[in-house]
Amino acid sequence: MIESVPGPGHVLVLASGNAGKLRELGAMLAPLGWKVAPQSDWDVPEAVEDGLSFIENALIKARNASMHTGLPALADDSGLVVDALRGEPGIFSARYAGKGAGDEANNRKLLRELEAVPESRRSAHFYCAMALVRHEKDPAPLLATGAWKGVIALSPSGSGGFGYDPLFRVPGMNCTSAQLQPDEKNRLSHRGKALARMKELMASI
Ligand code: IMP
Repeated sequence: MIESVPGPGHVLVLASGNAGKLRELGAMLAPLGWKVAPQSDWDVPEAVEDGLSFIENALIKARNASMHTGLPALADDSGLVVDALRGEPGIFSARYAGKGAGDEANNRKLLRELEAVPESRRSAHFYCAMALVRHEKDPAPLLATGAWKGVIALSPSGSGGFGYDPLFRVPGMNCTSAQLQPDEKNRLSHRGKALARMKELMASI
């Protein structure tokens, strides 16, 4: 029999320290009635994210949170994949401009790297991988991914969201993801899609 996953009333640890992502994931999970709690409530030490892909790093983070809390844990690993940069910043999105770099420095570096690249070749996508483990050694984690295609703008606009949102132009909407309402972003985004898939998986076993 497949072990059940957490449901309404159960605590699900969110293995992320990023305030923007916690806000978005919390809002998306709240209607389902789970008691979601950030891993900072348990002082979980940061995992060593040494995977080569988003999915590997999501699993590493989920297992780390579960190991230190003894609870089921959900982790996401996400970032921006720019075609003209062979997938960079990719899994290094949070620290593209160096360890501890903030969003502004990362965005500046991205614009620099794309300086010579015309608009027609600035395609990119946000990618999100999610992993849910029932316990630290769960051999059958639930895995879900989502992608969101866009184009990297020549300059930033908008003040919503976080990370690369001010540079991520949403096709057909004439705005960046930093100019979308939070619920609209959640509906379209890589994280929204991955979470919708994760919810289906959780409900199906
Ligand atoms: P993670 O915390 O290792 O998953 O790194 C995610 C990084 O990717 C963030 O710090 C952002 O720089 C970037 N990122 C992921 N999702 C988004 C998004 O929805 N908007 C803007 N940037 C994002």
